[in-house]
Amino acid sequence: MAAQMTQNRELLKWVEETVALCEPSNVYWCDGSQEEYDRMCELLVQSGTFKKLNPEKRPNSYLAWSDPIDVARVEDRTFICSTSKQDAGPTNNWVNPKEMKETLKGLFKGCMKGRTMYVIPFSMGPLGSPIAKIGIEITDSPYVVVNMRIMTRMGKKVLEVLGNGEFVPCLHSVGAPLEPGQQDVPWPCNKEKYIVHFPEERAIWSFGSGYGGNALLGKKCLALRIASKQGKDEGWLAEHMLILGVEAPTGEKTYVGAAFPSACGKTNFAMLIPPKPFQEKGWKVTTIGDDIAWIKPGPDGQIYAINPEYGYFGVAPGTNYDTNPNAMTSCEKNSIFTNVALTEDGDVWWEGMTKEPPAKLIDWQGNEWTPGCGRPAAHPNARFTSPASQCPCIDPEWENPRGVPMSAFIFGGRRKDTVPLVYQAFNWNYGVYLAATLGSETTAAAVGATGNVRRDPFAMLPFCGYHMADYFAHWLQFGRSIPKPPRIFSVNWFRKDANGKFIWPGYGENMRVLKWIVERVQGKAGSVESPLGWMPRFEDMDWEGLEMNREKYNELMSVDRDVWQQEVLSHEELFIKMYDRLPKEFLHTRELILSSLWRSPEHWEQIGDVHPEGWNE
Ligand code: OXD
Ligand code: MN
Repeated sequence: MAAQMTQNRELLKWVEETVALCEPSNVYWCDGSQEEYDRMCELLVQSGTFKKLNPEKRPNSYLAWSDPIDVARVEDRTFICSTSKQDAGPTNNWVNPKEMKETLKGLFKGCMKGRTMYVIPFSMGPLGSPIAKIGIEITDSPYVVVNMRIMTRMGKKVLEVLGNGEFVPCLHSVGAPLEPGQQDVPWPCNKEKYIVHFPEERAIWSFGSGYGGNALLGKKCLALRIASKQGKDEGWLAEHMLILGVEAPTGEKTYVGAAFPSACGKTNFAMLIPPKPFQEKGWKVTTIGDDIAWIKPGPDGQIYAINPEYGYFGVAPGTNYDTNPNAMTSCEKNSIFTNVALTEDGDVWWEGMTKEPPAKLIDWQGNEWTPGCGRPAAHPNARFTSPASQCPCIDPEWENPRGVPMSAFIFGGRRKDTVPLVYQAFNWNYGVYLAATLGSETTAAAVGATGNVRRDPFAMLPFCGYHMADYFAHWLQFGRSIPKPPRIFSVNWFRKDANGKFIWPGYGENMRVLKWIVERVQGKAGSVESPLGWMPRFEDMDWEGLEMNREKYNELMSVDRDVWQQEVLSHEELFIKMYDRLPKEFLHTRELILSSLWRSPEHWEQIGDVHPEGWNE
């Protein structure tokens, strides 16, 4: 079979070596066909991993419940094994690559016994695009195969494009060999987990987990960790960013990239539906991608971005027909749900999907559930895997192999205080500083405590495949090398009032912020200078159809000197860790921010009422 599909010597050799190491009982090369997908789903139903959902409610869709020890990315088990420890930097776990290979070889030895080994050829990016990259994932998980078919362009056609070319080898095992006669479990995995990257060799080894970012190796492992290193070496960027298009009433189209940490609303923002008055005026938002952007300078000096993915692996809880109707439509059919609850009529449910929960459910752990029983029905990191082509607002250019021209980058975290709703960096270098010092409260997307503020530079903390300070320097250099760098903005949708209530309504209303951003790019919108950057005044924003007053706006936008001094001190905590490689520009930028924080209160009164409060003498 393999011989018919590829003659690629490197690939054939690697598969042969992997068979010898992992000792599977069969080898299967995935062709990517619908027939194959249906057959694999049926197999997953028979093995108990999948439940087929009611075809009338959710055509051609399935539900999987994972082992409770395998529900999210495992950052403390994720390693960047560059030759030198220095090159992995202080924010990554590192082990000497030789030593790690020995450990992994021990773990992978015979790890696929009793299982089929699947070979999955996949392309990150439109097939044949000059920006795309090919990977081959070898896995013993059929769950991974069917998810990869939604998340990537996958199968025989990829091997045709690959020919004798280069690919990123991605080896994955759930780490649960089957003894002869031993009964399989619905979600095989291993207590011990290793998500390992060899950035110089451009190789990935993942052991022990069957879940999302740990196991679908095209996503975080290849498209971010390995690709970020490739981008550094080759002069481009691999980012944890959504890409959206904004069409103005004039018909002018502006593409924007936005980086938010995991589970902070990238999918919602990417699929935003403008408020009614905006729609009536002719504003439209379209989606290119919801999680990852690959960004390269084009021959015309502009920079272009593609979404390397082919589907969405979105967070389910909180998603509903009000907050994100486009995501809800995307997952109406042909979708896989992981760790959501099962309804009595064979459909899915998760917290926030409907105002009233159903009277009875089976929760993600397979137990009976009733409202008020004190447990969530879906895991907070429950996901849907859905084809991007099913998104009603998909941008007509989403498969353009050249990518789309980028005009702005937005960075945002989840901050209940401190950070204003929106501001624009004074220039590229300021923008790189604000992105580098991005802070956010932790979420359920990774194992560990939630709700603590941590520095998450560029929303890339868990995904940068090399030294974070070198990554900052790469961004600075990237900006220097292009004639017209995109404008950079900071946003925070999550500010709370004294009673702990969100001040900003978010979701579709974020269009108001997006409009200001797009008009700033076009040189049309007004602003005032603040210590952090350019900020919209109350009158610079379009409030039609939303109740907003100056007082509330000031609360959203206020920049408190004392609080910001503390914030700058916490930047220092990050900088100290990477002292030896920190770009010198950062220290100067920090000084400039501190210096503007000390401007007189009269200055603030003079420039308007963005935030006259908060300046303690
Ligand atoms: C994701 C994540 O799955 O960031 O996209 O965790
Ligand atoms: Mn993500």
